[in-house]
Amino acid sequence: MDMFVIQGGSRLKGNIPLSGSKNASLPIMSAALLTDEEIILRNVPDLADIRHQCKLLESLGAKVWRDNENALHIKVEDESNCQAEYELVRRMRASICVLGPMLARRQKAQVSMPGGCAIGDRPIDLHLNGLKTLGASIHLEAGYVSTECPRLQGTEIFLGGPFGSTVLGTANIMSAAVLAKGKTTIESAACEPEVVDLGNFLNAMGAKITGHGSPRIEIEGVDQLHGCDYEIIPDRIEAGTFMVAAAITNGELTIEKCPCNHLMAVIDRLRHIGVIVEPDGNNTVVSSARRLTPADLTTQPYPGFPTDLQAQLMALLCLADGNSIITEKIFPDRFMHIAELNRMGARLRKEGPTVVVQGVRELIGAPIMASDLRASAALVLAGMVARGETQILRVYHIDRGYEKIEEKLNAVGASIVRTSES
Ligand code: EPU
Repeated sequence: MDMFVIQGGSRLKGNIPLSGSKNASLPIMSAALLTDEEIILRNVPDLADIRHQCKLLESLGAKVWRDNENALHIKVEDESNCQAEYELVRRMRASICVLGPMLARRQKAQVSMPGGCAIGDRPIDLHLNGLKTLGASIHLEAGYVSTECPRLQGTEIFLGGPFGSTVLGTANIMSAAVLAKGKTTIESAACEPEVVDLGNFLNAMGAKITGHGSPRIEIEGVDQLHGCDYEIIPDRIEAGTFMVAAAITNGELTIEKCPCNHLMAVIDRLRHIGVIVEPDGNNTVVSSARRLTPADLTTQPYPGFPTDLQAQLMALLCLADGNSIITEKIFPDRFMHIAELNRMGARLRKEGPTVVVQGVRELIGAPIMASDLRASAALVLAGMVARGETQILRVYHIDRGYEKIEEKLNAVGASIVRTSES
């Protein structure tokens, strides 16, 4: 397994590019199962999770390849297999988003139930209720969800749950309802930019979707969809992570083609903390040269503060001049990074879904362990500012969602070496 060895103390400076959004790519790739015509996707990042999704699509009869311009092509050639195997699904929870498209196109779908996950309990009840409301039969057997329906029927679906809406649940229901007979209305739909990107992609395939980006999505079912050529949006979570990288190292980064309109809640908190965020054409310049002011933040569904940037902001607030309060309202147990940051000298105390962050003067390098994707990103950020050397074990977590992160950060002045755990 790989590890990172980080020498702390460098100030980052320069231009840094963004990759395409992982969380937009995964449901869009799944939706390619809705046609047997060729789909071309541009700006799909080259990541462990994306390679995994390619294998899953191949197991479901698709031919998947990259061309010499790095565009990803998907063409379904055999629709006879309707089962997504446990061996493939267990490695990545987002595999569940093949369920809706496969059911809509092949009239049946069997997907292994995704297992537990480092960020907490992650049920799929809302996905299943939505498909049932569209007329599908649902059975749970030997760890698999089996669904069947000769033709889904458009209807009204309420998708809200105890923690708000569901991003992949909305993706699944949208991608199923596009081929349903008649009109479907999704109430309490997720409004995340990744859901909007999926809606735009489905429309490029010939779907009739309106309202995506709002809590009420309307879908007029069509008989069939066709191939298309589509460019995925930039990764807002990678952009937010680089904003914190500039701030935590007292540096100045120009984030290229930064989707600031998808990051308003994050920019609001960063400015409160004292970070300077300034648009410069398509780019955004982020810098920080003074002491950090503490801040309170609560994660919420979009357009609220994203749970996927909670750990990174916590790393930053460890160094603020006073106490901050962070409350996690999407995944209340998503705090695996606390113990590791405390090993580096942070003062973090968890009380239920809330963490009290007592600012300290410095973090100190230590051997630490990555646990999930975003927690690992927070540890890289902490390592870049810590005194001395930080060793992060199990960086495969970070490789799931950040494309060439050490290369990008080293190009603007970081000192991160990838090596093998011995
Ligand atoms: N929930 C239910 N029932 C369901 C589905 C979800 O109760 O059927 C609950 C969840 O337990 C959670 C809340 O609803 O408390 C929101 O979960 P959601 O379904 O929106 O999460 P997701 O769609 O499984 C996506 C991202 C996550 C991101 C969340 C929230 C992908 C591949 N994953 O997950 O990204 O944290 O939305 O924004 O898009 C990551 O990239 O590191 C990551 C974990």
